[in-house]
Amino acid sequence: MIVPINLEKSKAVKYDVVIDELPILTFNRKVAIVTNTTVSALHLETLKSKTFADELFVVTIEDGEEFKNLATVERILNELFENKLDRKSLLIALGGGVIGDMTGFTASLYQRGIGFIQVPTTLLAQVDASVGGKTGVNNTYGKNLIGAFYQPEAVYIDTEFLKTLPPREFAAGIAEIVKMAVMFDKAYFDFLMEADFREKVVLEKVIQRSVELKAEVVNLDERESGIRAVLNYGHTFGHVVENETAYKTYLHGEAVAIGMMMANALAVELNMMTEEEMGLVEHFLNKHQLPTTYEVKDVDAFYDKFFLDKKAANNKLKFILPKGIGGHMMRNDVSEDILKKVLKAF
Ligand SMILES: NC(=O)c1ccc[n+]([C@@H]2O[C@H](COP(=O)([O-])OP(=O)(O)OC[C@H]3O[C@@H](n4cnc5c(N)ncnc54)[C@H](O)[C@@H]3O)[C@@H](O)[C@H]2O)c1
Ligand SMILES: [Zn+2]
Repeated sequence: MIVPINLEKSKAVKYDVVIDELPILTFNRKVAIVTNTTVSALHLETLKSKTFADELFVVTIEDGEEFKNLATVERILNELFENKLDRKSLLIALGGGVIGDMTGFTASLYQRGIGFIQVPTTLLAQVDASVGGKTGVNNTYGKNLIGAFYQPEAVYIDTEFLKTLPPREFAAGIAEIVKMAVMFDKAYFDFLMEADFREKVVLEKVIQRSVELKAEVVNLDERESGIRAVLNYGHTFGHVVENETAYKTYLHGEAVAIGMMMANALAVELNMMTEEEMGLVEHFLNKHQLPTTYEVKDVDAFYDKFFLDKKAANNKLKFILPKGIGGHMMRNDVSEDILKKVLKAF
């Protein structure tokens, strides 16, 4: 006998991403804000002054990717139990992608899952990490290897938070923004080329378009069995750069900028992009103080590291490459020789 279990209906998840001044948030439930020491000093009061709940707690953790692990998740869980949160309670993630990913994952675990809301405070988290429901932590085997697909109840994006963001962190977010444009939308790319990100209206428009594009992709493919992989443009190369430099030299967005240039060089080699188009992307990245060069000291070692990436399924390399600007193509037929040639010339 077969008993079919159909989760499709109950899993029809819907939520809003609100891009505006942070509104007053009222909840008839217990709420815990999860944040870190840096963001708490800058923005916790703003959020607290706008949040009205049955009871409100704050869990503050150390700042840094090195704290994005199971030990911290357990610490957060313990504080939630100490404060007797129940199954109706809510977590609010106030911070960048590290806080967002870890809070979402903790929410998915607490008493088998409670609600959570994202209040992203970095540009990268506003345009990328807070949308799409990927949550998780790192372990000694790699980044984001433990986690869950778990969607928030809402995302509130207020560009005011970005005023305190260090310029390098801001630029790292711009790398993920241009990634979306190169993959999906030539007109958006042209707009970005001229955009002054210091202007609030421009920034809001950029965030909106990035979120729309990401939402479209996630709606089609929540679990990354197809098109969602396009968001990894620049990442296959970028992850190797991050790994080779022990995650110390570059911010993630900076490594992605280098990775996009490597992917572009490969696309040019495969006649999918012109030198001129590659130059436009390079110009844009440079203009925003993002790195576009990287010396590959040992091409063979760099190549071998591709296979550490969790996306190298069945030991087959898969590259998401631009098709001109505004288009993309997945290539799993790139020979070792061509790849090494491109890396050598980079
Ligand atoms: N879930 C996803 O789909 C997804 C997508 C991309 C990245 N990520 C994850 O996101 C993380 C990177 O996110 P990130 O770039 O936001 O890094 P982050 O969370 O470490 O934040 C960067 C730094 O900025 C500080 N900060 C945050 N907001 C600030 C503000 N308003 N003013 C001043 N300082 C502020 C943080 O304390 C931190 O020191 C990585 O762990 C990555 O794996 C997840
Ligand atoms: Zn990224």
